[in-house]
Amino acid sequence: MIVNLFDLEKKFPENISEAIAGYYGSGARDEVTLKRNRSVFNEYELLPKLLRNVSTIDTSCTILDLKINFPILIAPMAMQSMAHPDGELATSKASKVSNTIMTLATSSNKSIEEVSPHNDKLFFQLYFAKDRKITEDMLQRCYDEKYKAIVFTADAPRLGTRERDEKNSFKMPDHLTLGNFKGTSFEKFDDYEGSSMNMHSEHLFDPTLTFEIISWIKEKSKLPVLVKGILRPDDAVNCFKNGANGLIISNHGGRQLDTAVPTLKQILPIREAVGNDKLIIVDGGIRRGTDVLKCLALGADAVQLGRPILWGLGYDGQKGVELVLNLLHKELIESMVLTGCKNLKEIDSDLITKC
Ligand SMILES: Cc1cc2nc3c(=O)[nH]c(=O)nc-3n(C[C@H](O)[C@H](O)[C@H](O)COP(=O)(O)O)c2cc1C
Repeated sequence: MIVNLFDLEKKFPENISEAIAGYYGSGARDEVTLKRNRSVFNEYELLPKLLRNVSTIDTSCTILDLKINFPILIAPMAMQSMAHPDGELATSKASKVSNTIMTLATSSNKSIEEVSPHNDKLFFQLYFAKDRKITEDMLQRCYDEKYKAIVFTADAPRLGTRERDEKNSFKMPDHLTLGNFKGTSFEKFDDYEGSSMNMHSEHLFDPTLTFEIISWIKEKSKLPVLVKGILRPDDAVNCFKNGANGLIISNHGGRQLDTAVPTLKQILPIREAVGNDKLIIVDGGIRRGTDVLKCLALGADAVQLGRPILWGLGYDGQKGVELVLNLLHKELIESMVLTGCKNLKEIDSDLITKC
C-alpha cells in the first residue's frame, strides 16, 4: 500500500538497473549532505497554534505571476526516460494536471519543443555551455516555446563526483539521447571507464562564469532568471544585485559538494539578507508535508521536489507523478490544519523552535 513518498522509494529499484538506480539516488562522495538534507528537518520542531478555525485551507500561491495550486514545484532532473519511457513528457503532463510548475532540465531526454505543448507553466534549467552559441540557441528556443523563466544552475562549474556512478561506470543507455542536443556531439554519451556523465559535463560546462553572467542570460533569453544552488546570504544578495528575479536555495540534492550545509538551515539567514519581497524557492530532502511547512515558516515562498518525482515516474508514469504531488499536498493541508494556518501567509517563523 502506498501511503507516503517513502513507500514509492522502496518500490523504485524494482524496474531499473543498479547503475540507473545509483545515478538517480546517489550523492557526492560520502553522501553526508544527502543524508543531512533529511535529518536536519528533525532539528526543527513545530509549535502548533490552536483554536484558529481551520475549516477551510487555501494552499494556492503565485510564483512569477503563475497561479498554482500549492507551493510544491518539480525540480529539474536530467534523463527522466531512464525511469519511464515517457520521461519528461509524463512529468510535465502530471505537473499540468496538478497545476504546478515544472522545470525542464538542459540534459533532458525529451526536448524543449517536445515538452512545451503539454504544459504552459514550464521553467527551463540551464547548464551554461562553454560554447556560448549552444547556450544562446537554447535560450532562444525557450523563448520561442513560451517557457516562463530560466533556472540557471550556478553550483556546477563541474559535476561533483558520485562514487556510485564511478563504480557502476554509469552511462545513459544507448537507445536514449539528450533531446536538446540533437545533431551535436553532446547528444549521446561516450564510453568511459568511470562515470560517462562526469566526462560529458566536463566537455560541456563552463567553469569561468561570474555573477555578471546573470544579466547576459536575462538579455539573451528575454525571460526572468532564477539562480539555483545558492547557499550563502552574500551570494544571494549578489544574485539580486546582478538582476536575478529569484533564487533557489539548493545543494543539488547533495550531488555536488559533499558536506555542504543542508538547505533548511540557510533559509532564514538568506531571507534576512535579501528582504521579504524577493522570490526564494528551496529544495533538498523534502518528503513530508511538515517539511514543506517548515521551509515556508523559515521564509521560503515555495519548495521543489527532486527524487520523489522520479520514484512516482518509475512507479506509474504520469499517474505516479500525480500521486506524489497529491500525497504531499494532502500532507501539507494536514500540517496546516494542525498548526492553525488557513493559508500560506499564516505560516510564520513563530511556528518553529530549533532543538
Ligand atoms: C537524478 C537527478 C538528476 C538531477 N539533474 C539535475 C540537473 O540536470 N540540473 C540541476 O540543476 N539539478 C539537477 N538535480 C538536482 C535537483 O534539481 C534538486 O536540486 C534536488 O534533486 C533536490 O533534492 P531532492 O532530490 O532531495 O528532492 C538532479 C537531481 C537528481 C536526483
